[in-house]
Formats: sequence, C-alpha cells, structure tokens
Amino acid sequence: MEQTFFMIKPDGVRRGLIGSIISRLETKGFRLVALKMLTISPEMAREHYAEHQGKSFFNELTDFITSGPVVAMVWEGPAVIKAVRTMMGATDPAEADPGTIRGDMAVSLSENVVHGSDSPIAAAREIGLFFRDL
Ligand code: RTP
Ligand code: MG
Repeated sequence: MEQTFFMIKPDGVRRGLIGSIISRLETKGFRLVALKMLTISPEMAREHYAEHQGKSFFNELTDFITSGPVVAMVWEGPAVIKAVRTMMGATDPAEADPGTIRGDMAVSLSENVVHGSDSPIAAAREIGLFFRDL
C-alpha cells in the first residue's frame, strides 16, 4: 500500500486548523499511520527543501517552516501521493480550487498551510527524514 508524507505547516498549527485538515484525509478514507508535532531545525529545513536551494525564496521558505511547531504525518492508501496533492490544491492559494485545503484555508503563497510529497521518491525521502524509525 502506498504511503505519503504530509505536514501541517506552522501557519496551520497557529491558526488552529490541525483537526479540520486531518478530518478531510480521514473522511476521504486514508489511514493515518504516524504523527508527531515538532519544531523543524534550520538544518532539517534545508534538507527537506533541498530541491529549492539557490532559489530566490529559499531563505524565506526555511525561515517560515522553522517559525513554530508543525504536525508531521505519514498517510497510507491507494494512490495516496497524488490524491493528497489533489486535495491540497495548487501551491499558490490564489490559484487553488475551492474544495481543496489551500483553496479553502489559505491566501498566501508562502503561508499555504500544508506540505505533501510530490512523488514516490520524495515520499520515501521525506518519510525517512521525519520518521527515521518507521
Ligand atoms: P510544498 O513543497 O511546501 O508542499 O509546496 P509545493 O510542492 O506545492 O510547492 P514547491 O514548488 O515545492 O514550493 C515549496 C514552497 O515554496 C514556496 N514558494 N514560494 N515565491 C515563490 O515563487 C515561491 N514558490 C514556491 C511555497 O510556499 C511552496 O509551498
Ligand atoms: Mg514541494
């Protein structure tokens, strides 16, 4: 069964959206197999977002993702990687469809509430980074 890494970012935690976001994935029928709240270190932020190193928004991105606790999770189900990305909506909440998490819950490109793995390779890498003992 496929697994993906999914995370509620610091803005989602600050705004009290943990329950309603988790509820969407549970209601869909996916299974939550691991969960922890943590504050990401600067080193871990640079590793997690390594693909964006050198881009203009990299420092803003790592500052934001380390700015408070996140809720890191592993979810399991059929084709869960793509399905969770669809449920998240477009990266820029201004372009995210209504009914998606970002479309319904965010207005800012940098503070867009959630992260989800974008491929099987990314999922394996990110699950390994956040849940080394899983
Ligand atoms: P994420 O990795 O956080 O799940 O988001 P994503 O796949 O939808 O988007 P990605 O391209 O991986 O970008 C990572 C995060 O960087 C911020 N971003 N800023 N200023 C910009 O042009 C820009 N582009 C991306 C977003 O907050 C995005 O979630
Ligand atoms: Mg991404």
